[in-house]
Amino acid sequence: MCWTDWMTMTGTKPSQPGGAAADDPLAHDWLARQRERLAGIALSAKAETFGRVTHVADGIARIQGLPEVRLNELLHFEGGQTGLALALDEDAISAVLFDDLTGIEAGTRVSGTGDVVRVPVGPDLLGRIVDPLGRPLDEGDAIAPADHWPVERPAPAIIERDLVSQPVETGVLVVDSLFALGRGQRELIIGDRATGKTSIAVDAIVNQKNSGVVCVYVAVGQRATAIERVIEAVKAHGAPESCIFVLASAAASPGMQWIAPFAGMTMAEYFRDRGQDALIVIDDLTKHAATHRELALLTREPPGREAYPGDVFYLHARLLERAAHLSPALGGGSLTALPIAETDAGNLSAYIPTNLISITDGQIVLSTNLFAANQRPAVDVGLSVSRVGGKAQRRALRQVSGRIRLDYAQFLELEMFTRFGGMSDQRFKPVLIRGERIRAVLTQDRFAGLSGAAQVALLAALNAGKLDTAAPETIPALQSRVDSALACGARDLVYRINANSEIDDADLTRLADIVGALADKAQDHG
Ligand SMILES: Nc1ncnc2c1ncn2[C@@H]1O[C@H](COP(=O)(O)OP(=O)(O)OP(=O)(O)O)[C@@H](O)[C@H]1O
Ligand SMILES: [Mg+2]
Repeated sequence: MCWTDWMTMTGTKPSQPGGAAADDPLAHDWLARQRERLAGIALSAKAETFGRVTHVADGIARIQGLPEVRLNELLHFEGGQTGLALALDEDAISAVLFDDLTGIEAGTRVSGTGDVVRVPVGPDLLGRIVDPLGRPLDEGDAIAPADHWPVERPAPAIIERDLVSQPVETGVLVVDSLFALGRGQRELIIGDRATGKTSIAVDAIVNQKNSGVVCVYVAVGQRATAIERVIEAVKAHGAPESCIFVLASAAASPGMQWIAPFAGMTMAEYFRDRGQDALIVIDDLTKHAATHRELALLTREPPGREAYPGDVFYLHARLLERAAHLSPALGGGSLTALPIAETDAGNLSAYIPTNLISITDGQIVLSTNLFAANQRPAVDVGLSVSRVGGKAQRRALRQVSGRIRLDYAQFLELEMFTRFGGMSDQRFKPVLIRGERIRAVLTQDRFAGLSGAAQVALLAALNAGKLDTAAPETIPALQSRVDSALACGARDLVYRINANSEIDDADLTRLADIVGALADKAQDHG
């Protein structure tokens, strides 16, 4: 629009030549300035699409009027809140909200962003406590991320993967000897309420103190006190500076709980893709599945078995498939996943437990009965399995653990009979004596991780029968003394075990003798 048009529209009289205004230099200046200003304004049409909230409740907003929004697109609400397009219907969108509902009501404006949900990644997150969108929850400074990566990323293809070849040592003897884990493996920790699931995972994190493995702990739907205990434990016993805590407690919005495992995976993948090793603990996926079911029912997806929507298997499969050991061409990094699942009355055949068992490479099953019988960790040896880690196990440990597995399985079977009516047959006595000692050796306190050499020495002593004469209750106390005894008496063997060499029978006898002497001393003092 030109200047004269504007004056005609607004009814302003153009100044006549020779009139007072034309001669006024002040008016002339003003006119020139306004002309200049108008010329500087870039006038262009800008189309903006927005929709409006029609209904909001239970962490879900129904929105009308955003026909171009795509599935899983990040949405912005008028008050600054964010959400995710979870279901697209013909005439409306259902969005799950990440923040609380304050300020969102019918009529609130919503716009699409054309982008997916992204989280900050990078070394600056190490040692920090964050929410699933990467916002700090601790007292620290603002995070300076290396990048922002989408929470949903494709899993590496087969060609991009390598065999699992290096162990992840948890320091928990029963796990490392019988159900060894490898870098890149997915191992489920499953059991009833309060059977020590979180404790095993935290012990695994604590034991990475000097291994250089980056740990990510994701809490989904956990009580704030339980989360606090985990953080305190890692701070007291582990290396918090190489851990990231991603928290969506039971009080967090369903959206936050839903996205937390994916966000944690992305943060861990950053290290995997740079050739480092990472470990992620997801505590727990049963609660995640329940949140997914809640959101699906609210968005009116058809319910399937146990009212879960049909895609719950795919949800967890695509999450856990991202754990991998990458090929050397891609840097050779690894991401190991330890998802946790809770069972009801030990029912492993419920829907979510069977799903997770079939997705993962094995499971460590914790039993209420063993926990009540004071077996800690309460690992059910018969039901637990690790399908890939054995190949990655430390060589010396593999040499000594095969025999233990067999002896212990025989003992557990025999123990059943002896419990009902007493089996007096003397032939079985040695099996029972050995079994009781194995059980005692596998009993271990929290935060008392055993070194590889100590594990080999203890099992070698068991196999050689050096502990058969020791009272079972004196055995767990030996564990903490083995390392210093080995440092005095078999430094060369410790070095070789740590270098992952095989050791011969004479070496095993030496190790067994050292532990046997310790046991005898404890017996005498007792
Ligand atoms: N090896 C152990 N030695 C001694 N105590 C243990 C051991 N493992 C676990 N506990 C104790 O058992 C209790 C339950 O452990 P934890 O919280 O890890 O179980 P959980 O299965 O994760 O429970 P929830 O179902 O509530 O998440 C805790 O008080 C913990 O200290
Ligand atoms: Mg727990």
